[in-house]
Amino acid sequence: MLAIDEKTITDAALDQMATTPNPRFKHIMAALVRHLHAFAREADLTPEEWLHGIKFLTAVGQKCTEFRQEFILLSDTLGLSALVNSMHDRRALEDATKSSLLGPFYRNDSPTLPLGTSIVGKGKSANTVIYGRVENSAGEPVPNASVEIWQPDEEGWYDLQKLDPSEMDLRGRFYTDAEGRFHLRTIAPTGYMIPMDGPVGDMIRAQRRHGYRPAHIHFVVGAPGYREVVTAIYLTGDPHLDSDTVFGASESLVVGINPNDPDSPFPDLQSIRFDFRLASLAGEATSGRVGADPSQILQKAAH
Ligand SMILES: [Fe+2]
Repeated sequence: MLAIDEKTITDAALDQMATTPNPRFKHIMAALVRHLHAFAREADLTPEEWLHGIKFLTAVGQKCTEFRQEFILLSDTLGLSALVNSMHDRRALEDATKSSLLGPFYRNDSPTLPLGTSIVGKGKSANTVIYGRVENSAGEPVPNASVEIWQPDEEGWYDLQKLDPSEMDLRGRFYTDAEGRFHLRTIAPTGYMIPMDGPVGDMIRAQRRHGYRPAHIHFVVGAPGYREVVTAIYLTGDPHLDSDTVFGASESLVVGINPNDPDSPFPDLQSIRFDFRLASLAGEATSGRVGADPSQILQKAAH
């Protein structure tokens, strides 16, 4: 009989999982076990500490609802989402807009709106226009591309964090015109602190991290035949651009607000211009989304 000890346990676990028929699942689980064991050895993990870890992960799961996703927040704050995004970008065959985080505030069923519409609800008025073009890697326009946008309000809250989280605000889906152009009206976003009232917030405080994200606006941009881009644009000058708690901000995604822009479709408003570049799909069927609508993740977990 095999003597299970500190040295043999990893091979014993890998041997037992070697019967896994799905090769990709087998590869992922073997890598997970090897690195989890290496982590426990490096940290010289005690039973008490691992129980603390199990309690933490349990609390992360318990915090998830149809409107909140604490596991995405954990993945984001550990830098894992940004790493998975970077590897996804590396696999593209053509030049494209860099990925950024989907985050925990994406929603599937945001309303489709005509170009130029304001996404600001509840009688508030838009003060900013966002416009640009969706193009392919050759710089040609992509007509009828879907441009989904969502952002926090002027105090840094998303609709999903409000008193009635089923009510939508500051999100919408637009389709580009024949020249690949889009434009919409909104308010300038503000930076915000990630949700700190759960186990991830406890972790961030214990690590003495500030918990802030620089001001940004989220986008999912896609069209048939192209690789979907999950990204965000960040506002220049934000004090947390270099210390984003979830590592989403990146140089090529930083833009300024132009207070006086004669080229803007609404020249009376301040403007943000950003052009998105999509790579061809090239036969692959992978999504760039690290995350999903919280209600969808909950449904999948139940099955
Ligand atoms: Fe965000």
